[in-house]
Amino acid sequence: MARNKYDIGETLETEFNFSHLKRLGKYIKPYRKDLFLTIILMTVTSALGMLTPIILMQIMDVYIPNNDIKGIVLLSILILGIYLIISVVLRMKITLTSRLGQNIIHTIRRDIFEHLQELPFSYYDDRPHGKIQVRVVNYVNSLSDLLSNGIVNTITDLFSLVFIVIFMFAVNVRLALICLLGLPMLMILIFIIKKKQRVAWQILSNKSSNLNAYIAESISGIRVTQSFTRERENTKIFNTLSNDYRQAWMTAVKYNFLLWPAINNISTWTTAAVFVLGVAWIDQGIEGITAGVLIAMTGYIGQFWAPVNTLASFYNSLLTAISYLERIFETIDEPVLVKDCEGAVPMPPIKGKVEFKNVVFSYEDGIPILNDISFTANVGDSIAIVGPTGAGKTTIINLISRFYNLDSGTITIDGIDIDKVTIKSLRKQMGIMLQDSFIFSGTIMDNIRYGNMEATDEQVIEAAKTVRAHDFIMELENGYDTEVNERGTRLSVGQRQLISFARALLADPKILILDEATSSIDTETEILLQEGLSKLLANRTSFIIAHRLSTIKNSTCIMYVDGGKIQELGTHDELIEKKGKYYELYMSQYKFLEE
Ligand SMILES: Nc1ncnc2c1ncn2[C@@H]1O[C@H](COP(=O)(O)OP(=O)(O)OP(=O)(O)O)[C@@H](O)[C@H]1O
Ligand SMILES: [Mg+2]
Repeated sequence: MARNKYDIGETLETEFNFSHLKRLGKYIKPYRKDLFLTIILMTVTSALGMLTPIILMQIMDVYIPNNDIKGIVLLSILILGIYLIISVVLRMKITLTSRLGQNIIHTIRRDIFEHLQELPFSYYDDRPHGKIQVRVVNYVNSLSDLLSNGIVNTITDLFSLVFIVIFMFAVNVRLALICLLGLPMLMILIFIIKKKQRVAWQILSNKSSNLNAYIAESISGIRVTQSFTRERENTKIFNTLSNDYRQAWMTAVKYNFLLWPAINNISTWTTAAVFVLGVAWIDQGIEGITAGVLIAMTGYIGQFWAPVNTLASFYNSLLTAISYLERIFETIDEPVLVKDCEGAVPMPPIKGKVEFKNVVFSYEDGIPILNDISFTANVGDSIAIVGPTGAGKTTIINLISRFYNLDSGTITIDGIDIDKVTIKSLRKQMGIMLQDSFIFSGTIMDNIRYGNMEATDEQVIEAAKTVRAHDFIMELENGYDTEVNERGTRLSVGQRQLISFARALLADPKILILDEATSSIDTETEILLQEGLSKLLANRTSFIIAHRLSTIKNSTCIMYVDGGKIQELGTHDELIEKKGKYYELYMSQYKFLEE
């Protein structure tokens, strides 16, 4: 089958890893009372169920020969009573186990999500988002069956098995032994298919994750797909991935379905053997074997294979669950590479002096993106970062907020190394507007307030006014209460920029970082924006990556970045005088604006 780049293999664990189950045990622990109660209830009822064959045996061998109608009626009522209790308890069990399973799943899902929130940019840079999503949603859901019914059923079934075996031996040892002969055969079969089955489930989880990743990507890329009429090719890729998934599924269930027929066969054969030998032994007049004994024994054999069957299917779901647990715990264990160092202290209120000292940084080992960057921005400075595409402008500002770890060098704010303070206290005091202005689903008001949850409506509106977003917001049908969907597709790119601008401002940061803040905003709005901003920027240090000359010219200092280095640093006039790279850029792009 044609391979494609969306078919990403994941490492398969070779050994059956029981430590995953042990870890799952920790999630189950808080609910051990519920679990215990359910198991007790189930064990008692299954013990009650065991009594019926013996009662039947008594009826056959004692009450019928004695013509004891009254006794027969009483015993029949007893059997009815037993079944009534069993059905009531089963009902309780379903409620208890579903609650148990869903509670545990909720906790696991919360843990993954919390961890995902902590993971640094680099984690998300490295993998398709759909693959992350599938772990939180689908894999965790797949545990539902195991957690709700699996555990309780297995434990009660184990108890039932013990009871049944005891009762069987109590009724007749010979016949009991014949019945148990089937077990070793089953063990051999399980042993043979175990490994293949496990690998099959691992592959299945991998294929489902590939499929999900592709679907997620296709949905986010649908506009590009349709503009380039790539629908047919995409469907082809989808078909391949979906086919892979289907085949993996067929292989995985093939092994599962091997077990049930095997158990059915073995149970039928042993029942037949019990009957044939039992009747022969009755014929031979062997002591202790009567028609009643035979009936009781078949009752037990029926009950004996049912739990074996559920145990086998539990074993199947255990294998499945482990293949999912591997991925779930892998995500929870993913190291948080950018984290507070030991003994990190909260960042004191920032004044705004930012200093880079010999900063070296690379996204991938061995490919340095920033090479020995050093500069100082004083309180209240506004630094414009310019340079060609891919020069590392965004990278520089990402480092100020500590989204990545440095390879070497230091970044200090007010003389404090940002590696030594807690990340939250640092980022809380910065206003960051990223290059791709992300809008969340919710109202415009919510989206701006994202920058500072405590801000009042008035403060939100004030921020919007400063960045000149107020007018267009008021023109929307519900003003600030207008609902926007994820990514804010109903807004224009410039409008989205203005909203994230307001969001950054609302945090009332001492350091303001704006990446391509005004690239999609019309000149007229930008001039207005500049007026508002210049007042605002007065007491703040700001880093602005911009292409607009007006934005750049107003800054205290211009930093021309290229080839991972600061090539030029100075005011607009100084750099023009220098006739270097900035001058070239200015001449080629901006000169005409001044004429
Ligand atoms: N997450 C990443 N992983 C690996 N390499 C990256 C990553 N992000 C950026 N790069 C690389 O780092 C270099 C600098 O990227 P950066 O985004 O800082 O450029 P930029 O100056 O902001 O460009 P632009 O003006 O286009 O926004 C580029 O060569 C890019 O390929
Ligand atoms: Mg950039």
